Amino acid sequence: MVIAIDGPAGAGKSTVARALAERLGFTYLDSGAMYRCVALAALERGADTSDAEAMGRLAASLAIGFDGERVELDGRDVSAAIREPRVTEASSLVSVHPAVREAMVASQRQLIVAGRYVAEGRDIGTVVSPDAPLKVFLTASAEERARRRAEQTGEDLTAVLAAQRERDARDEGREHSALRAAEDAVELDTTGLALDEVVDRIESLARERGLV
Ligand code: DC
Repeated sequence: MVIAIDGPAGAGKSTVARALAERLGFTYLDSGAMYRCVALAALERGADTSDAEAMGRLAASLAIGFDGERVELDGRDVSAAIREPRVTEASSLVSVHPAVREAMVASQRQLIVAGRYVAEGRDIGTVVSPDAPLKVFLTASAEERARRRAEQTGEDLTAVLAAQRERDARDEGREHSALRAAEDAVELDTTGLALDEVVDRIESLARERGLV
């Protein structure tokens, strides 16, 4: 069973999904980390991230796993490496390819079938788990999202805002699994809200729906 938390970068998905999973005793799934693993593998191999076929083959060949907070790529701990800005950028490029998405969605479905998950991403409620009994679409203003990301990574705010605008356009405009809220998703604007307020709200929804 899955609680789906979707939304754009910087809307607070990771922090919220992690905290919610901990509160409810569910497992946390960071689907973005999987696209980041494909991007890292492509960069390490010097492969062309715009080559749809090569990226699809690469994605299907990788063993991506989680051990608590640790992200493993072919048995190697890549938790830090996948957060580098160059990987962030490349992950947005590789995730446009349908074959890459197919491979990631299949792995994600395999994982979530076996337990109770809070899964975070862009397409959990629309594609990975359209039957999820609770779907939340988190948003926040572009400025607030960029400020949060800059605080996290120490990058320059203006640069973050510009890169974010490009990534948003790519995520929302791509042909396959474009970022959008599922029709039955609860939309939650986190601008100016404290983490606890957001988690409280989702926890109440989960309780109202008898999920915990
Ligand atoms: O959430 P994140 O920043 O770690 O995601 C990295 C990239 O992966 C981002 O450009 C969007 C993409 N992504 C996706 O296409 N589908 C998902 N379910 C999760 C992430």
